[in-house]
Amino acid sequence: MTDRPADTSQPLSALAVEDQGLCRAAFAATANAHAPYSRFSVGAALVTASGTVFQGANLENASYGLSICAEAAALVAANNASDRAVTAIAVTGHSAGSRRDTAAIVTPCGRCRQMIAEFAALSDTDIRVLCCAGDLSRVLATSIDALLPHAFGRSSLTAG
Ligand code: THU
Repeated sequence: MTDRPADTSQPLSALAVEDQGLCRAAFAATANAHAPYSRFSVGAALVTASGTVFQGANLENASYGLSICAEAAALVAANNASDRAVTAIAVTGHSAGSRRDTAAIVTPCGRCRQMIAEFAALSDTDIRVLCCAGDLSRVLATSIDALLPHAFGRSSLTAG
């Protein structure tokens, strides 16, 4: 039997107003999802040190493995603006076909964690990660260091 981490999620209303706004921006981005295969719409919104918010939605492909996650899409949007000082990113998602899972909290997949960690390393900082339930009822506020401890990164390439 595996130990599950404790549920430290909290109601959206318990978050700082700015963080609530970022979660809502992630939720709004789910409307842009192209997810005809999984029928799971994901949205992400990140904010940079300049205060700019970039959104992304998942983009699926008939060749399933080519699909692009919402977090990656948001990071690419920030990169396109040369605005890479990400301070926080929110993610949420819900099934288009069923309402049963809307209260489930969505956390970034492993690849997205690695991509977020790259941006954290660029600014030599941690990045807050707001993992939201599909209906925004609850939010697990954590960070990329907590989600991806002992990350492989740019410093790994120069170590030793
Ligand atoms: N997905 C994301 O957009 N972000 C994640 O962190 C997890 C998974 C997308 C990929 C795919 O389009 C759908 O969710 C189902 O896996």
